[in-house]
Parts: sequence; C-alpha cells; structure tokens
Amino acid sequence: MAPTPQPGIFAAALAEHAYLEFDRRPGVDARELFAALTAVGEPMPAAGAINVVVGVRPSLWEPVVATDFTEPVAGPDGFTMPATQHDAWLWLSGADRTALFDYTRAALAVLDPVAICASEVSGWVYHHDRDLTGFIDGTENPPRSLAPTVAAVAEGPAAGCCVALIQQWRHDSGAFEVLSVAEQEAVIGRTKADSVELDDAHKPPTSHVARTVIEKDGEELKIFRRNTAYGSVREHGTMFVGFCAQQYPLAEMLRRMAGVGDGVRDALTRYTAPVTGAYYVIPPVEALARLAP
Ligand code: HEM
Repeated sequence: MAPTPQPGIFAAALAEHAYLEFDRRPGVDARELFAALTAVGEPMPAAGAINVVVGVRPSLWEPVVATDFTEPVAGPDGFTMPATQHDAWLWLSGADRTALFDYTRAALAVLDPVAICASEVSGWVYHHDRDLTGFIDGTENPPRSLAPTVAAVAEGPAAGCCVALIQQWRHDSGAFEVLSVAEQEAVIGRTKADSVELDDAHKPPTSHVARTVIEKDGEELKIFRRNTAYGSVREHGTMFVGFCAQQYPLAEMLRRMAGVGDGVRDALTRYTAPVTGAYYVIPPVEALARLAP
C-alpha cells in the first residue's frame, strides 16, 4: 500500500493554528530529533481534537526530496525574501484556543530535551476564508479529493512525502487599504468580493495571480495552500503554508514573485514583506511510525 501523507495537511480548516520551528540542541542527531517529533503526535493529556503536522529540514531527510532554504531569493531591484531555515517545523491546529494552547505547551515539553524553539507564530482563520488583505485565499486550491495528488510524492522511495514552504509575510495594511478596491483587485488579479479572476485585459502582468500561475510543458503546476492570518492588530499578515509533491513549483513561484529572471515583481510584495522562509519535508505517517522510539 502507498504510504500515507500526514492527514493534518488536508484536515478541514480549524479556527486556531500554532506554527513552531525548532533547532537541534548541540550534540543531538537527526534520529533523536525525529524520535521526539513522533512523540508530539501521540495523544497528550491536555489534547482536544488537535491536528498535528511535523516537518523536518530537507537536508536531514533521506531519500532526498528537497533542498534547504539557505539562499535568500533576491529580486533585481533589491527586494529580498530571507532564508531562515530551521531543523523542524510543527503545525498544530484546533477548534479551541485553550486546547491548542495546552497541547502546544505539552509538545514543547516533549521536544525540549532535544530541540530549542526558534520561532512561534499564532494563526487564525479570518472571516471564514479571507486573508488579512480582505481577499478570499485558496480559491484556486485543488479540491480536497485531489489535494493529496498535488501535495504528496506519488511513488518511489519518497512516496507519501510532501514538500512544504513556510513563509511569514508581514502586511503593510495601511498602504494596501488606501488603494481603491479596483487597485487592490489589480494587485491580486481577482475580484475582492467573490474572487473572480480578472480577464486578461484587466489583469496586470504584475498581479499576484499572473506571477503564481506557472506552466511546464504546457501544463499548469499546482500547489496546495493552507494559509492563515497571524498576528495582532498592530503587527499582522499571512502565514503562507504551501505543499507540493516537488520543490520546483514552490521555488519557481517565489522567484517569479521576486521578479528573478524577467524583472517583473509581484505587486503584492509592495504591500507585504516576507520575514521568514523555510522548506520542510513532511514525512508520511508510516515513516514517522518507524522512527518512533
Ligand atoms: C502575503 C502572502 C500572500 C498572500 C496574501 C496571498 C494571497 C493570495 C490570494 C488572495 C490569491 C487569490 C485567490 C486564490 O486562488 O487563492 C492567491 C492565489 C495564489 N497564490 Fe498567493 N498569496 C501569498 C503568497 C503566496 C506565495 C508565497 C505563493 C507561492 C509560493 C503563492 C501562490 C499562490 C498560487 C499558486 C495562487 C493561485 C493562482 C491561480 O491558480 O490562480 N501565494 N494568493
């Protein structure tokens, strides 16, 4: 039977999210880190219904599925997406903030002997399916029935693995909100109220949609996105969480957003700035089970 991608990737959207990144403590090897990560998915006393997804630094995982995010993505005009790779990624989500808080604390305690928490971000679902720009996010996602085909390696030694791109984007909401709705729609490439794609005559080549629709050999390359809003009233943005069976579409979308190659930078990057960037391999359930102590 084909290995099973971690089910939390495809779970119905829950309201509350916690994203944490970790680095190994000195002297801890990859196997010890993996063993501790498998324990995070075990039921904990404080658990409500919490989805758990764990990822590992690509260079720690065999067979090779992806490479680390070690080089910033630098556009031609000085615009840069930072590289902030860590050793492990934990994505916990739940319907109830209290249960998620308790579970996340318990997860940290499990990992504490082997890893230091390097970053922690709290996300939540804003107006059902909207990004903090006010636009619907996820319209062009593959339907859940097809998402595993897009997100996970289908066959071979890495079957069931997913590549995740995790990028925290901080919005300049004030700058975006002074634009008219028509100007905002030109930035995204879709209408604000109901997410209808603008026709070619009205969709600028700099629009986010125009930059992230990519093709190879005449076929559109898809990814599966699970973004949420994060932050506080004064400091907030998008937690970009994207999955794909290959690294190429994710990396190519980033290059196109930054204007690498053709110099056309995504208009969205004028109103929101990436503050982190890392790739993780999300091993299948069976591989994690084998790594359990
Ligand atoms: C602040 C960061 C971002 C925001 C606010 C944002 C928001 C949006 C919105 C509103 C849409 C249109 C609706 C939809 O189809 O979901 C969209 C589409 C899309 N975005 Fe983003 N996005 C962000 C970053 C990224 C990044 C980093 C990538 C890729 C690495 C990406 C890839 C895509 C793709 C593939 C589509 C669908 C294009 C299509 O097929 O029409 N986005 N995004």
